[in-house]
Amino acid sequence: MTIQEPLSITDIVDGLKHKPGALLPILHAIQEQFGFIPESAVGIIAKSLKQTKAEIDGVISFYHHFRTSQPGNHTIELCRAEACQSLGSRSLEAHAKTKLGIDFHHTTSDRKFSLDAVYCLGNCANGPSVRINDDIHGRTTVDKFDRLLEEYSAKSVSA
Ligand code: FES
Repeated sequence: MTIQEPLSITDIVDGLKHKPGALLPILHAIQEQFGFIPESAVGIIAKSLKQTKAEIDGVISFYHHFRTSQPGNHTIELCRAEACQSLGSRSLEAHAKTKLGIDFHHTTSDRKFSLDAVYCLGNCANGPSVRINDDIHGRTTVDKFDRLLEEYSAKSVSA
């Protein structure tokens, strides 16, 4: 078994730039590799695809999926889709933002948590739904959310 070296931004761009509609696959691949789109990537992509940096920045900011800063140890995604809204996700969202002291697409100052929005986690009947890293949690009340924060926070310390 061979160990694969991580790809550089230039490797990723060079490997995908000839595909039709290359920008989105490039952005996805960079975020997959680094966890976010570093500022330095924008110039490399723009030059390679013969677009302006403003155009690349525009696409990055249009899609909420893309992050422009390093994520925290744990990524929390709150479902904002309709079924979860009808089960109270709006008030959970307000609580989460206050509790963490951040808005969507930001990371807490201790770098433990990043907060993002998501639109359906396939757990609609059990909303409000939250995904923390790869774990989906249903029926997330404010109290349950706080317990989850403590639980994952403890994982950060022991990791
Ligand atoms: S609407 Fe939230 S999980 Fe489907």
